[in-house]
Amino acid sequence: MVPDSSWSQQVAALAEEGACALAAAPNEIALREVYARYGGQKGSVKRAVSEAIARAPKEEKRTVGQTGNGALERIETAFASRLAALADAARARDLERSVDVTLPGRAPRIGHLHPITHARREIEQIFARLGFALATGPEVETDFHNFEALAIPKDHPARDMQDTFYLAQGSDLLLRTHTLPVQIRTMLAGPPPIRIICPGAVYRRDDDPTHSPMFHQVEGLVVEERVTFADLKGTLLHFCQAFLGPATRLRLRPSFFPFTEPSAEVDISCVFCGGTGCRTCKGGGWIELGGAGMVDPEVFRQVAYDPEKYNGFAFGFGIDRMAMLKYRINDIRRLYEGDQRLSEQFG
Ligand code: PHE
Repeated sequence: MVPDSSWSQQVAALAEEGACALAAAPNEIALREVYARYGGQKGSVKRAVSEAIARAPKEEKRTVGQTGNGALERIETAFASRLAALADAARARDLERSVDVTLPGRAPRIGHLHPITHARREIEQIFARLGFALATGPEVETDFHNFEALAIPKDHPARDMQDTFYLAQGSDLLLRTHTLPVQIRTMLAGPPPIRIICPGAVYRRDDDPTHSPMFHQVEGLVVEERVTFADLKGTLLHFCQAFLGPATRLRLRPSFFPFTEPSAEVDISCVFCGGTGCRTCKGGGWIELGGAGMVDPEVFRQVAYDPEKYNGFAFGFGIDRMAMLKYRINDIRRLYEGDQRLSEQFG
């Protein structure tokens, strides 16, 4: 005995075939021909349904009948929607023909790069001239690449649910909170020497006039056999002066990061007042740009580099912050409002 699902399947398969043929009909004449084959009281679908009901065992007739109704309806719907679509297309063609060719043309609106893109590209160029390669990586990261390999222990406040977007409760996956995981990936992929910058979007759970939950960073890494803190400072000074002007001064303040030792907070002289003190720098004359330091030997151990042989430095800045300083934009939210008048100023 043939199970009822087989009868239903045959009917459904025929309806599927009919619906596809209807949807593919190139014009109304062809459409009506196809419909005559499958649809209506004399069509093949109706015949198949009657036959299936006749052959199915008594207790299954009801189910087969229901499937049959669905199949018939399927054909009707496919016919009606294709008919409507062909009519729409015909109307659109008519409208096209009635275009007034004497009307003056309208110039297309030219797009502009976003100031963050401008800033990122310029930053990339400055570092390219210093021999830095560009490295990118995924924005969805593992706990290992974003934290563990960077010697950020499980109980570190940066891992708090308050700061990090996890993909799910208890998940090992998260939105990267910095671009340093790209540095880990690069080191795991091959031996030193390394000289890279990693620009890209990062995510943290804060949102106020000076912070956005998504922002952009550029973080750099150099690993060689003899790299010093002086190399770090020289690189940063060169970069800041190239990006913000030759009068820019640099200040490194002792700080702490789990992945660098020693670590420093990087300040630059205020671009607005030149260091005499104003509203932007809150009178201090300095603006905080990011962090930097010498790579902690623990990080090298995590990526199987010999900490006795190699050393290196790393740094990280906010691209958004740098764009705001360079282009004198005073509210970070301006950068994300999508107001085209902003980008238009950077054509
Ligand atoms: N990763 C740090 C941050 O997100 C910045 C940093 C990078 C600090 C490299 C030191 C070295 O703020």
